[in-house]
Amino acid sequence: MFEDARAAVHAAKRIAVLTGAGVSAESGIPTFRSNGGFWRNNRFEDLATPEGFARDPKFVWQWYEERRRGIAATRPNAGHEALVRLEERTPDFTLITQNVDGLHDAAGSKNVIRLHGDIWTLRCTKCGAERVSREELKDLPPNCKCGGIERPGVVWFGEDLPPGAIERAAEAVQRAEVLIVAGTSAQVYPAAGLIPLALRHGATVIEINPEETDFSDEVTIALRGKSAEILPQLV
Ligand code: OAD
Repeated sequence: MFEDARAAVHAAKRIAVLTGAGVSAESGIPTFRSNGGFWRNNRFEDLATPEGFARDPKFVWQWYEERRRGIAATRPNAGHEALVRLEERTPDFTLITQNVDGLHDAAGSKNVIRLHGDIWTLRCTKCGAERVSREELKDLPPNCKCGGIERPGVVWFGEDLPPGAIERAAEAVQRAEVLIVAGTSAQVYPAAGLIPLALRHGATVIEINPEETDFSDEVTIALRGKSAEILPQLV
């Protein structure tokens, strides 16, 4: 099974990859739904919805600032690095990530679609201006030059994805010979919908996850294990 996956990855000229929080787990960033995950101990309604932010922007920002500081102390792992090598040798390669941590970029991945935005970007709720800042934010919530309150540049529950992101991801998945799905519970849509889309278009879909997901029975090859171990072997 592993050898079949490796052969498919090596033969493919068009590859798409969908990643989730699990690929950053071995860098030390908690996932959302596994043991110790963010949504096991926090209410996403309070922290990751526009309504929660409108109610208490300071409380939401304190949580994001804590996450930003946690992420700032981490580094890409062997899984992120393997995907950089795969991109270098694959003529048509698209990395679609649900992660907002920026570790794929830090590793050196180039063609990255950030479906759920970027935790280092701040966006004004009044004028829409965006800026990237990795600095520690002292006065929360931060303010835009125009006087409006800034919010984290991430996608919250009930919100649209960044313009064009899912369309570009779907195009990449439809042309891909292989889709690698790594470190996602595949419970959040529209991202999870890319998996059946790839299958319908005849791609070999390889799942990498220590646990079963709702798609484990449907994918072509399910590899049980950690992405920082399996991705380097696969590539
Ligand atoms: P989840 O927390 O839902 O799922 C993480 C997955 O990673 C689980 O299936 C784990 O079994 C798996 N996993 C854990 N450790 C791993 C490892 N070392 N190697 C590989 N896999 C591992 O996270 P996501 O699927 O990314 O949305 O969640 C999707 C979205 O839900 C997130 O982008 C976030 C969240 O609400 C937004 O922020 C909009």
